[in-house]
Amino acid sequence: MHDKYTDKALSEGLRARSAYKLLQINNKYHIIKRNDNILDLGCWPGGWMIAAKRIGANKVLGIDLAEIEPIENTEFIQGSVLENKTIAKIQGAFEVILSDLAPKTSGNRSLDVARSLDLSETAFKMAKKHLKVNGNLLIKVFQGEGYQEFFNKITKHFTFTKTVKPEASRQRSMEVYLLGIGFKG
Ligand SMILES: C[S@@+](CC[C@H](N)C(=O)[O-])C[C@H]1O[C@@H](n2cnc3c(N)ncnc32)[C@H](O)[C@@H]1O
Repeated sequence: MHDKYTDKALSEGLRARSAYKLLQINNKYHIIKRNDNILDLGCWPGGWMIAAKRIGANKVLGIDLAEIEPIENTEFIQGSVLENKTIAKIQGAFEVILSDLAPKTSGNRSLDVARSLDLSETAFKMAKKHLKVNGNLLIKVFQGEGYQEFFNKITKHFTFTKTVKPEASRQRSMEVYLLGIGFKG
């Protein structure tokens, strides 16, 4: 499924078209600022990590099941965010936590939605532990059963919350991004 964003990503050294989803959201909501420390969950192949670096982030720590090609001046942990041994390796506090975590789709919509929500809950758990007060959170979620409850829960912990669908996200895809700005701690 090659399209204009895939070609653009490859020619601009961003590795994946998904990089434009983050860049478009950031252009509008300014979630990443210069010198911010970023935790990027589900980072393979590294498009968001490279985009965050180009925006001017300081430390960028990526985590994924799959190993990434190293990216200069970034850190990477290979493992599942659902396993304690991976989570235990995350140290420190971050101004921004990003999650583009996505389950392998099975074709069974309600199963995929449930798996995506599990990953999103894990990202939120990590935010409660590692996100600085006033920090920002961006989580990809497959919209479906349970999404509204998850959104309502996140809302209580941020000064501004919104569901966003950047232009680079395919219309037919059930993914949306839940944005939380200004973590209350
Ligand atoms: C859409 S891709 C991320 C693309 C990335 N944002 C980029 O711009 O290059 C989703 C990633 O989530 C990862 N993932 C899914 N479940 C995971 C888990 N339990 N632990 C860690 N990573 C996981 C997948 O391996 C996959 O690489």
